[in-house]
Amino acid sequence: MKHMAEKVKARAKAKAKQREEIEPASSPQTAQREYYKAKYQTLEDLPGVGPATANKLRALGFKTVEALATAPIRFLEQNGVGEDTAKKIVTAARKGMALEYINGLELQEIQKNKLKMTTGCSPLDRLLNGGLETMSITEFYSEFGGGKSQICQQLAVMVQLPEAEGGLDGGCLYIDTEHVVRPDMFIRIAKFRGLDPDEVLKRIIYAEAYTSEHQAELLSNADEVIKVNNIRLIIIDSLTGHFRAEYLGRENLAPRQQKLNQHMHKLIRLARAFNAVAIVTNQVSATPDSFFSKDPVPVGGNIVGHIAHTRIYLRKGRENLRVAKIVASPFLPEGEVPFRITSTGITGDELGV
Ligand SMILES: Nc1ncnc2c1ncn2[C@@H]1O[C@H](COP(=O)(O)OP(=O)(O)OP(=O)(O)O)[C@@H](O)[C@H]1O
Ligand SMILES: [Mg+2]
Repeated sequence: MKHMAEKVKARAKAKAKQREEIEPASSPQTAQREYYKAKYQTLEDLPGVGPATANKLRALGFKTVEALATAPIRFLEQNGVGEDTAKKIVTAARKGMALEYINGLELQEIQKNKLKMTTGCSPLDRLLNGGLETMSITEFYSEFGGGKSQICQQLAVMVQLPEAEGGLDGGCLYIDTEHVVRPDMFIRIAKFRGLDPDEVLKRIIYAEAYTSEHQAELLSNADEVIKVNNIRLIIIDSLTGHFRAEYLGRENLAPRQQKLNQHMHKLIRLARAFNAVAIVTNQVSATPDSFFSKDPVPVGGNIVGHIAHTRIYLRKGRENLRVAKIVASPFLPEGEVPFRITSTGITGDELGV
């Protein structure tokens, strides 16, 4: 028993020392991130991973230690990685990222890594209590023309701002399922913010998803792209469009929900592993439920709703006026604010809220 207590003490001491070593050289925010950073840089650095296993893991979509640390062991086993190996390497990857059992103080330390990024629209920032939080998913849903894609395109630029200006000094990964993204919109938003449009475009990594399967595959293979490009914002616009079109009929509801569930889990794991903001958009459906509800109901039902995240409904107003309403959030109170869609992005300062 005594031996165990000593071991725990020694480990805490070593961790504290590790933190001390990091802190003097960096700003408080970078220091927090260093604490969270993986100890192992490549898959081959992990104990017990040789070239063959590394290749297999890459083929399964785990190209970085960060992604592996949040991988379900069962998924690796189901895909031909031996049970012992799967357990060993995921555990090692988790240890390297402090994703093991931790005490409350250590949890507090990790939670400090959560950052907020501005939306560039002050009423929305106020609704979000300062901005969008990293390591969590925010969903915008509305009927067509609600402003979802406009918000996404603005965020793809805002994330690039330095932290002092409310950004995350990172890139954006944009998975577009509806072929709506237009570079000239990014250019207009960038110019309006006084940024070099070419530099901004370079940091937006774009992929068009042609089917739901392709969409899921793009995300499953995203970890290396995220790491190499310092992606701090992952957008899936729209999350549900393909799923809704492909899985028609009641008999396909269960498989659709299962796929959506896996997709959302992958997204939250990536957001946690890379301390990134995750944004999904969603349409509304005309389900019988909406008869009883004042607001339309988002597509995806319980699965999309069950993964704890912030859901924001966008309601159309006159002309370019919109209202954003928090419908559910694990950490934000309910509320709503107006904003406007303009040719240089979304704004609302003049609305005085
Ligand atoms: N320059 C502009 N000035 C004012 N309003 C604009 C401007 N450009 C676009 N809009 C408005 O933005 C709306 C399109 O918004 P957006 O594409 O973000 O909708 P969405 O919620 O993504 O819709 P969908 O469900 O079809 O994907 C248009 O209907 C238009 O009203
Ligand atoms: Mg859209």
